This record gives sequence, C-alpha cells and structure tokens, in this order.
Amino acid sequence: MNTISIIEVKELTKTFNGDVTAVDNISFTVEEGEIFGFLGPNGAGKTTTLNMLATILRPTSGTAVVNGFDIHENPDAVRRSIGFVFQDPTLDTELTGRENLDFHGRLYGLTKKEREERIKEILEVVQLTDRADNYVKTYSGGMKRRLEIARGLLHYPKVLFLDEPTLGLDPQTRRAIWDYIAKLNQEQNVTIILTTHYTEEADHLCNRIQIIDFGKIVANDTPENLKATLQGDVIGLTFKEAKDAQQMLSKLNALEWVRSAIPVSGSGNQVGMSQMSVLMQRMAGGSGMGMMGGMGNVGGPSGMTAQMPKDPDKIAEAMNKLHQQAGPLRNFHQINLLVDNASRRIPGLVKIVDEAGVELDSVQMHKPTLDDVFLSVTGRSIRDESGSMMQMFRQHRMIRQARGGRTPH
Ligand SMILES: Nc1ncnc2c1ncn2[C@@H]1O[C@H](COP(=O)(O)OP(=O)(O)OP(=O)(O)O)[C@@H](O)[C@H]1O
Ligand SMILES: [Mg+2]
Repeated sequence: MNTISIIEVKELTKTFNGDVTAVDNISFTVEEGEIFGFLGPNGAGKTTTLNMLATILRPTSGTAVVNGFDIHENPDAVRRSIGFVFQDPTLDTELTGRENLDFHGRLYGLTKKEREERIKEILEVVQLTDRADNYVKTYSGGMKRRLEIARGLLHYPKVLFLDEPTLGLDPQTRRAIWDYIAKLNQEQNVTIILTTHYTEEADHLCNRIQIIDFGKIVANDTPENLKATLQGDVIGLTFKEAKDAQQMLSKLNALEWVRSAIPVSGSGNQVGMSQMSVLMQRMAGGSGMGMMGGMGNVGGPSGMTAQMPKDPDKIAEAMNKLHQQAGPLRNFHQINLLVDNASRRIPGLVKIVDEAGVELDSVQMHKPTLDDVFLSVTGRSIRDESGSMMQMFRQHRMIRQARGGRTPH
C-alpha cells in the first residue's frame, strides 16, 4: 500500500444547537487504497463526521481536504469525487434497480453510453444483473444494500463513504456485503471509509480502525496492533447476582497477577432503561466526557489521533484510572480479567470466588478481541449502547420520515 493521504482532517468540530458537541476537535488522515473503519457506539459522531467530509454538513470549526479539495473552498469538487452510501436507505423502491442507477448517472452527468456501460459493469460486481429490471420493492435487504453500494460507485469516485453498510442485516448477508466491499476496494481501486458499531465487521474488513466515542478519537491503529496492546488473555467471569459481582470486583482487581478487572454491563445486545439513562447522562456531559480526560495517553483532550500505550502496565494503569473516574457501575454481572496464561489461572479463580461464598454463572476465556479493546479504552462494552432499543428508535424515526414523505438525512 502506498502512503498518499487521500483525506486529511484537521481539528474538525460540529456542535448542534450550540450545546451538543457531536464531533469534538478530531484530526486524522486516510491513505489512498485503505479500507478505513470508524468504529463507535450509537451517537459517537460517526455519521456527523462523514457528513462533514461529504460536504452535506458544515463544520462548526476545523477543516478537511478530500481528494485534494478543501471542503470549505471547493465543496462541489469534493462531492463529484466521492460516492456516499447513507446509513438510512434512500433508494426509490417504485423504480427498478437499473432505473435507480440510471437516475444517479444522469445526476452526475454521465452520457447515455457511459451510463449503459458502467451500469452493466457495476451490476455484475454486486451480482444484481438478473434482478436489475425488477422493482426495488421486491428486493431483499441485502440486495437493496448492494444496489446502494453500486449506485455510490457509479460515477467512478476515488473515495467511497459507507455509513453502516450492514446495519440490520443478518450475519450471512453481512458476510456477503463484506466480500463485495473488499472486492470493490481491490478491483475498482477505490478508498473506502466506513462506519460501523460491529467490532467483527471492523476487524474483518478494515486495514485501519479509528475508535470514536463521544465525538473524540480514542484509538487509531491496525486491528492487529489494537488487539496486541492487550497482551495476554481475557477471562470473563459471570456471576449469578449483580451484588456478588460488585463485591468481587475490588478483590479480583487486588490480585497481583490480574492486570485489570473490568466490569461489563448489560448482556449481549439487550439495552435496559437503566443503561439508556446512564448513556443519556453521559451524553449530557456527565461522567462520560470526564472519562476521556482520565485516559492519559490512550485518549486525550486534544482530540488528536492517539495510539494506545504498548506497555501493559500503562494500559492497566489507564484502565484503573478510567474506572475510578467513571464511578461505580451498577448492575453488572460480568467481570473481565486481563491476565497471562488464562487456563492456568482459572482453577485458582474459581477457588477464590468459592471461598468468598458467591456463585458463578459461567467462566469463559478468549484472546483479546476488538470488543475488549473498546471496553479497555472507553470503560464500557460497545454492545451496551448499540442494541435493540437504539435500533427501535431508529426504525420509529424512519417510519415517521416515510409517513411525512421526507427523505432521511
Ligand atoms: N441534526 C442534528 N441535530 C441535533 N443533534 C444531532 C443532529 N445530528 C446528530 N445529532 C447528535 O449528534 C450526536 C452524534 O450523532 P451521529 O449521528 O453522528 O452518531 P453516530 O455515531 O452516527 O451514531 P449511530 O451509530 O447511531 O448512527 C448524537 O448525540 C446525535 O443525537
Ligand atoms: Mg450514524
């Protein structure tokens, strides 16, 4: 991969209505040919950042150069040189797939001949040739997403922005879309910037991942390097009772061979009202923003791209600081321990828990994943805030927009 920067972002900030700082003074670069992932939970500022880079939204301050064009000085040139697939669907379902593509090609001034050739080529890439003349309303979710990706690429952009390319799709369809994205990056020679809150998507697809939280960049590196910063293994202890988990947290943290003990709130993708209210408080400037200040060299008030520390002790120190600042997390059943040689530690751990007279529900161990990285740099699980309730709000919003006849975004 060469090292020509195709996007350079400098101190970009967006504040809505004077009080919600959605994107907080971020700076980063994207190299030509990369698949660059923006990973973050709901409300982190991913869409807002992409919209500013695509000149759909005006930054409150800061600037960016996209494909050599300044977003303030030359927004039309920026728009012509990029493709964009929005988070919420924007296809005309009363038209056929081919008609949707043709309409887009006309908007971008392609001639009839150019449109015909390019549409044929791009339909083949996303394997929709045989459905091209059917109405989009008869397409499956995955087919619609593929058509949107094809449309984003129609006018030969050098950069393609994909905002949550697989949101709401089943795992099998998601994997198929990943294959298309990787293929487009290789065969169409296009730099891809995608947002996601699926850690496995970022891990599988991206050359480089930037973790964004509360509008700030908290980490930026290759997936391998991010995971390697958490040397060792993770042991996840799930307790039957939340009060037992709380009681055990400090005991486990005090063990000399435990680098860090992190409470994990919630279970899977289920978001409870209590967690939602914690999120709301954090968004309103509560402990969430305070946490960032406590991250030492992991994050930083400057919002500049930060590398996580390589030294495991430093990570542990940062994590412990983070937890102190975040305050007590209530209602957690699970504690993740960062240790060396997990398999040798488990019998001893079970004994300690047993002697404390509390009951375990399950014990599991794994090599650090991006979920663990997210947990370590933000102090909470990405899944807590990416679950069913946010999905439900989003669906409600889309239904309202559809009823009102307004286009999303
Ligand atoms: N037009 C707007 N007016 C006011 N606030 C907004 C607007 N758009 C976004 N926000 C707020 O800015 C913050 C960041 O939103 P954004 O849509 O960029 O997040 P995101 O990371 O894309 O989240 P998601 O994963 O849910 O798509 C949120 O707090 C959101 O409520
Ligand atoms: Mg978004």
